[in-house]
Order: sequence, then structure tokens, then C-alpha cells
Amino acid sequence: MSLSIEEKAVSYGWKVLSTLLTQLGRHNLPLPLKGKFVNEPLARGSTVIYPSVEAMQKANIGFYNHETLYGAMGSPNQHQLEKAIALIEGGRDCQIVSSGLAACTVPLLSFLSSGDHCLIIDSIYGPTRRFADNIMKRFGVEISYYPADSSLEEIETFIQKNTKIIFTESPGSHSFEIQDIQGTAKIAHRHSAKLILDNTWGIGIFKPFEHGVDISVQALTKFANGHSDLVLGAITVNNNEDWHQLRNTAVALGEVAGSDVCWLTLRGLRTLAARLEKQSITSFNLALWCSKLPFVKRVLHPALPSCYGHEIWKRDFTGASSVFGIVFKENIKTEQLIQIINSLKIFSIGASWGGFESLVLLSDGEIKRNFKSRTLTGSAFRLHIGLEDKDDLIQDLKQAFEKILG
Ligand SMILES: Cc1ncc(COP(=O)(O)O)c(C=O)c1O
Repeated sequence: MSLSIEEKAVSYGWKVLSTLLTQLGRHNLPLPLKGKFVNEPLARGSTVIYPSVEAMQKANIGFYNHETLYGAMGSPNQHQLEKAIALIEGGRDCQIVSSGLAACTVPLLSFLSSGDHCLIIDSIYGPTRRFADNIMKRFGVEISYYPADSSLEEIETFIQKNTKIIFTESPGSHSFEIQDIQGTAKIAHRHSAKLILDNTWGIGIFKPFEHGVDISVQALTKFANGHSDLVLGAITVNNNEDWHQLRNTAVALGEVAGSDVCWLTLRGLRTLAARLEKQSITSFNLALWCSKLPFVKRVLHPALPSCYGHEIWKRDFTGASSVFGIVFKENIKTEQLIQIINSLKIFSIGASWGGFESLVLLSDGEIKRNFKSRTLTGSAFRLHIGLEDKDDLIQDLKQAFEKILG
């Protein structure tokens, strides 16, 4: 017969406050409902307690199976989110990690060893480059880059005998080149290498595994959560061997996410399609409007022909996300762009993207490249379009341009 906490306190003589505090309020009962809440309850925890040693030993079978064994290996909310992301990406298994950056670095640590070569696209998210150059090299991994507007034939010339990973991103950070993922995957596989894709821009609109990707990375911080109030990442793979390698490395590194951020991200996901639709339409309209301005040289929006890889975008994507770049003509100086940015009233100045609010970010000389970009050629900024009204956003840009450029 199970005793209530009050009955236990009396019969076991738990009078000492410290003992009582460890026991009270832990009924561990299912929710006292006949039905279910719409959303999964939030479950925080570190230790999982088992009814017997045998039960604890048996539970270990669930290590690769998204079962909760111990808090540092994930919570029920984390595992729910893993299943959801694997479904969205079209892969088999997903590992949630603490940030989008960790989602980029953990696969490098999982699938590369000393003596291996990793070939990375030049337009990769900056901190991924920093990790590869500063940390992976220290552990004897060779790192090199290929231009983001390389043809498939050109990419193949960068492959080495020891290439184990090609790491790409489509579209590229700040310069927005769309990649031929199928073609790149074929090159990787022909040389017994794996293809990692940072698919953050493509969440919900690009199915990486249908195009031959081996490992897909998501910064859930961006569109998946969509509310600019947390940091989280996901890595999805499509076969057992890769899953075991990834899961072992993530757990060995202590990579885990709090239940609260997983719960919030799962809630954010419910509105992903609606947000994507609204924000991408506004974004396309703004990109079109910007492309007609006399002082704009080029708009880097994958749904516009002026963007490198536009034809591939039409072939492979089912939509466009909400972030794009604007390159200004040579006579517009960076100082003027800074003044324009400072004059905006609705757009906030900020680096992350994918939230409900519109943002602007200077694409300045801090962006490190090994090759001279043929698309990011001069003063530029990046816009992220939120849920605001299209005409209000256009009006905001208009007043800032007029104020500074006349
Ligand atoms: C394409 C891409 N990948 C990864 C990241 C890293 O995400 P997080 O900020 O969650 O570390 C970002 C963040 O800006 C990003 O834009």
C-alpha cells in the first residue's frame, strides 16, 4: 500500500526539516485527469529513481532510444523535442544540444579524428569557422575552405585523400549563396566523406536527407523557437551508426539542454508554419522593394534572381525564410550605412534572427573569408523580417534612407 507524504512523515518519524524537505511535494503521480493536457507537462529533473537495481540496469537499453535515464542525458521534454525535430528534418534520430553553435561543433568532434581533413564552405557561420580553426586544428584536424560560389567541379578539386567531412551552409551566412546540396553530397560520398549541412535557414522548407545530407544542424534559437528568448541547437542524422557516434560524443561532452528551453521550443514549433508563411511573404516584398532603390547594387534574397543559386533554390526549397542581405552601390560608405541603421525606428539592431521582431545587422569587415566574395562586394547590411506590417517596415526603411541619403 502506498502511503501519502503525510502518512510517511508520521510513520517514519520524519520530523527533521531537512529530511521532510527532501520528501514533500514529490508525489510523482500522473496528472489527476481523466484526459490529457494539450501540451506535454514540463518535467525538470536530474536523478531518475528506479524501483530496483534490475530495473535501473534494464533502463540503460534506452540510451539510444530517447528514454530518460538521467538528467544529464536528457529529459522527457528534450526527448520529445528530439523526436519532433527529427520529423521536421526528415531524419531518423536527433540530439538536442545547448546552442546552435554546439550543434555545429559537436558533429565535428563526433566524426573527425586527428589526421582527417575537413572541407568547409567559406560562407560558414563565423563562430563555426572559429571553432574549426582554433580548436579542431589543435587536435590535428586539417581544415580548409572552398569559395561559396564554387561549381561542383571546383568543389571536387578541394577534396583531399584524408577528407572525411564537407561542412556546408545554404544559403551562406551574410552572402546568401544557395548550394547544390545533392551535387555536394554526391562528391562527399564518392570520396567516402560525410556531408554536414547547417540547415538553420531551411527549417521546414528544405528536407536535408532527401538531398543526400548525412548530418543536419539546426540553431533552434532562430526560427524553430521563434520568440528570441532562448538558445538551443539540434543535430539530426539518418542511420544507426551515425546516431550512436553522435549520441556517445554529445553525452561524453556533457551536452544537454534544460527542460524549460526544450518545452518552450516545442511550443514555438506549433506556430512555425504560420510564422514562416507570414514572415517570408513580408520578407520577399521588402526584398523586392529594396531591389528597386537607386543606391542598392544587389539584394541577396534566394527568391530573387540576383541571388547566387536562385535556380537551385527554386528546384529544392518549398519557401524562403525571413533573413536576407542588401549590398549598396560603391558610392555609399559604411559610415552612411551606420547612420541609416541608427535612424531606424521599428527595426532593432541585433545579431540573431528568426524571432517575431524585425532586425538589422551591419555586414561589416568582421566577416572573415579566405576567398574574396563575389556577392558581398561593398557596404551591406542584413535584414531579418518579423511579424510587423509590411507597409510599416517599408516606411521605416524609407524614412531612414531619406534622412541620410536625401
Ligand atoms: C546559420 C547559423 N548557424 C548557427 C548559429 C548559432 O546559433 P546559436 O546562436 O544558437 O549558437 C547561428 C546564429 O546566428 C546561425 O545563424
